[in-house]
Amino acid sequence: MGGLMARDDTMHDDSQYESKSQACEAADDIPKNPDTGHSIGAVIARRYSRRDMLKGSLGVTAATALFGADALIAGRARAEALTSAAFKEIAGGVDERHHVAEGYTADALLRWGDPLFPDMAPFDPRKLTAEEQARRFGYNNDYVAFFPIGNAGDRGLLCVNHEYVDPEAMFPGIKRVSRTNFSEITEAHVAVEMAAHGVTVAEIVREGERWRPVLESKSNRRITSSTPMTFDGPAAGHARLKTSADPSGLRVLGTLNNCAGGHTPWGTYLTAEENFHGYFWTDAPKDKPTDAGSEAKSYARNRIPSNWYSWGRYNPRFNIDKEQNEPNRFGWIVEIDPSDPTSTPVKHTALGRFSHEGAECLINKDGRVVLYSGDDARFEYVYRFVSRDRYREGDRAHNMRLFSEGTLSVARYNDDGTTDWLPLVFGEGPLTPENGFHSQADVVIDARIASDLLKATPMDRPEDVEPNRRTGKVYVMLTNNDRRKADQKNAANPRAENDFGHIIEMTPPDNDHAAARFAWDLLLACGDPTVAEVGARWNPATTADGWFSSPDNCAFDADGRLWVSTDQGSSWPKTGKADGLYAIDTEGAERGRSRLFFRGPIGAEICGPTFTPDGETLFLAVQHPGTDGARAWKPFGRPSTFDDPSTRWPDFDPNMPPRPTVLAIRRKGGGRIAS
Ligand code: FEO
Ligand code: CA
Ligand code: CA
Repeated sequence: MGGLMARDDTMHDDSQYESKSQACEAADDIPKNPDTGHSIGAVIARRYSRRDMLKGSLGVTAATALFGADALIAGRARAEALTSAAFKEIAGGVDERHHVAEGYTADALLRWGDPLFPDMAPFDPRKLTAEEQARRFGYNNDYVAFFPIGNAGDRGLLCVNHEYVDPEAMFPGIKRVSRTNFSEITEAHVAVEMAAHGVTVAEIVREGERWRPVLESKSNRRITSSTPMTFDGPAAGHARLKTSADPSGLRVLGTLNNCAGGHTPWGTYLTAEENFHGYFWTDAPKDKPTDAGSEAKSYARNRIPSNWYSWGRYNPRFNIDKEQNEPNRFGWIVEIDPSDPTSTPVKHTALGRFSHEGAECLINKDGRVVLYSGDDARFEYVYRFVSRDRYREGDRAHNMRLFSEGTLSVARYNDDGTTDWLPLVFGEGPLTPENGFHSQADVVIDARIASDLLKATPMDRPEDVEPNRRTGKVYVMLTNNDRRKADQKNAANPRAENDFGHIIEMTPPDNDHAAARFAWDLLLACGDPTVAEVGARWNPATTADGWFSSPDNCAFDADGRLWVSTDQGSSWPKTGKADGLYAIDTEGAERGRSRLFFRGPIGAEICGPTFTPDGETLFLAVQHPGTDGARAWKPFGRPSTFDDPSTRWPDFDPNMPPRPTVLAIRRKGGGRIAS
């Protein structure tokens, strides 16, 4: 019991970082998982010949052997309806603007600072207060979901995550912020930062070819890091969730680092709390660390505190020296009812606590709801939740409790092409008091430690994990992991120093997403296919513009085709390409072929692709334009700041810094995208 906690100082030399996002992205991934797999390099060579991969035959073979041919016929029939996306591929490259395929328009729909309510002044970032920011579109837009209103395809509620902030790009006069230097960040700055996080709900309407926000809508809402929320599930009310402000352990203020998310069949929005550890602060010096007591092991496994932001200087709840349990109240999936702006968001503890990238779900064939979620850090895991109860059509109150009780499992990717889902259940296997687990609350709060004990497979940073609801296959974006060593390779993470990432495809038997065992296959190994040492695997029809690195978010269009957006961070010089959105074939002769549809401006990652149900509009979130890798971009050659940015996208107004923005992309003259 007990233990002395030091700050995570392994990456405290920030001198190599030129932006907040870059520093955060790198620190995000310090491996703290002690169990990083076994050496089986030879197995990979046996399993994956290039020919097998390109034909897509491996998955069929492995799945057929496991489940029988009949079980796969339904899925194949569904998949055969998929055809290649039709558009003229754009050229890769990097400049200060965005580029979209010929014949399409990309309009700014919501930009950081845009008003969400009537009678608000136009945005002036030099006069931004916390009160103002809490009523305006937040910073660093990530996941996007669209909930239609009516059947005309011209109105709906758009929900958008605001993952984090880049103070240098947001505030005038700030030169340098790092985890060791917050000297320029005042309490007023912190208040704005806190209000710029969270979620936006905005009604939008299409007039002709252009979408616009409806400021008069009663649905418009900002949720921030201060909005009251409740807990449900096994950890709700547990002693480890109790704080001085909330002795019940049932109520919490706000949500943090909302990266990707999900949308439910009953019309609610799920937002994923990713790098929550970065917000927790200690004043304790390295040689006299805070006593974390019984939380010491949990803090260490979750990299708490990390001092990425200075909120804990002004708000005791983010200071672990003062409020030991507050970190246990973040790292969850939050369900929000966008149709009721007075509703209280719920953190569903049954879904586990880790750096959730996203949370996409479907209704299984037996009526239960199955949700997938990746833990985005190097050597972390892929999770699945199966609800105890079944979905009831039209019973929203019942359906909004489906994430309250069920079975959380973690994935083990076997070298024979199967995936075992290992249930994280208190009292089963090693999840017992001898190993520090005294209830299911402990299991979900320390899902990572529980998964270590179950020998789950440490992955190359699992970002989006999303089922294709048409084919029943599940796609796992593994963005990269340059710290995997040669003796840590395994079949599902087949490359050491994986700079470029890969995509895994999982097939449930007979389309049963609650099954204990799936088949898996490698869809792609990313990187330049012309450089042999990279070990990339693409369909040979993929062009020099079409291959990419660092898959992050994904979506399926109205026809069920896979689209992937990328986040290379400051590593973009390794490809020479800005981050973009790619359309990928998953079936037939073109399986594994990728084509570039859109690319963003210098320094931006591309997030949140989502299509309207009619397939005619694509919403895309362009995050942190101008910041990542600005110094490496020769025409600029220095770090980006508010006063001196590498681009002023999307306004190109000399008085406006770059602004994270959600775009609405449409085909000129209308029609389905890429058909
Ligand atoms: Fe926030 Fe894993 O990207
Ligand atoms: Ca992401
Ligand atoms: Ca990312």
